[in-house]
Amino acid sequence: MASYNVRWGIMATGGIATTFVRDLLTDPKVRGASDVSHTIVAVASSSSASRAEEFIVDKAIPRPCAAYGSYEELVADSSVDVIYVATPHSHHFQNSMLALEAGKHVLCEKAFTVNAAQAKILCETAKKKNLFLMEAVWTRYFPLSVQVRDLIKQGAIGEVLRVIADNSTGDDVEKIWGTAHRMVNKDLAGGALLDLGIYSLTWVFQTLYHTLPVTQRKPPSAISAHITPYHLTGADEATTILLSFPTTTPSNSTHPGESQAVAMTHLRVATDPGEDNSAGPAVRIQGTKGEIQVDGPVWRPERYRVISKKTGDSEASGIKEVHCSFPGNGHGMYWEADEVARCLRDGKLESESMPWEESIVIMEVMDEARRQGGLTYPESIESTSYPLKL
Ligand SMILES: NC(=O)c1ccc[n+]([C@@H]2O[C@H](COP(=O)([O-])OP(=O)(O)OC[C@H]3O[C@@H](n4cnc5c(N)ncnc54)[C@H](OP(=O)(O)O)[C@@H]3O)[C@@H](O)[C@H]2O)c1
Repeated sequence: MASYNVRWGIMATGGIATTFVRDLLTDPKVRGASDVSHTIVAVASSSSASRAEEFIVDKAIPRPCAAYGSYEELVADSSVDVIYVATPHSHHFQNSMLALEAGKHVLCEKAFTVNAAQAKILCETAKKKNLFLMEAVWTRYFPLSVQVRDLIKQGAIGEVLRVIADNSTGDDVEKIWGTAHRMVNKDLAGGALLDLGIYSLTWVFQTLYHTLPVTQRKPPSAISAHITPYHLTGADEATTILLSFPTTTPSNSTHPGESQAVAMTHLRVATDPGEDNSAGPAVRIQGTKGEIQVDGPVWRPERYRVISKKTGDSEASGIKEVHCSFPGNGHGMYWEADEVARCLRDGKLESESMPWEESIVIMEVMDEARRQGGLTYPESIESTSYPLKL
């Protein structure tokens, strides 16, 4: 049977667009996907058509592939099925709206938007226009993430009561990011929370929330956040969020209980300073019968352990370690691209693994953390008005 082919339009030519395009160009069969395939039919750069052309040549994108010097031209191209939005998060709302209004499906990089109000409008627009829309939280589509979620659902570590997740980089912030880079520039919605903290929250949500049947998922009942501003720009250089969920997983049957989580991110200290996991796991998912530990980085983990609780004096605790590979030497973004293709093939507007409702709840958590920490962004990038020139 012929595979279902998706025709991609790439919006922006920066770092993550490069990584995504490389993965799109790998042969799906190498990762065991024979049902879908990908073609890049157009690339747009906001700076010039020659920049887009240079990107096409550099990345060896097969011809024909159109090169555009504006995003407006890209979304008007009738040969494009879906737009991959790879601009800074400050621009995600305006850029995704542009694509949706032009009748294009959208895969938009994380963080989805600057705030939940913008995310809601994107989802409403996609629904109204009968278009597919997904936040590109690629980690959710890794076989490793799927396995961990399945283990939780099967009760492998009992009732999960606490999750601790950290995504911290340990940078020389002034030297590496300065003041203008999108990581710390408030005009580009910079800061650790929206860029890195989203992954800590991803692990909290995909283990404590997403593992429940849809009807039992409940947003956090309490959120407490501490934010440390970066002295040169005011963007957050560190954010820690404590969350309580009114549910436990995989079931709430043994006793009516809550689960707790700690989601952390920091630019100046690292999750794993030795880059050898000597600091311990980046994620601990703790249940009544044991725990699952995921080694970092949390956005692209390669290994997890299931540790069973020691039950008697003589019995040793059981530890099972699992390594997950990236076929074809890929980065791992192809799994989310395959998901987009399958959703389009099946006429779905959203992905079950990253549903709109969950993206919005996570944005609401980040809104609340920013409210408590006093972190605001310029009015224009917090705005829900469209179109707006940024
Ligand atoms: N999934 C992941 O693992 C991952 C990793 C890194 C980043 N990201 C996300 O991807 C997005 C882009 O990150 P990146 O690292 O690729 O950033 P980047 O290297 O700075 O690239 C961003 C691109 O956006 C375009 N752009 C449009 N308006 C812009 C403006 N006002 N200022 C700067 N750039 C502008 C530019 O391309 P043109 O001029 O060619 O249009 C630029 O090259 C962010 O939302 C980030 O959170 C995701």
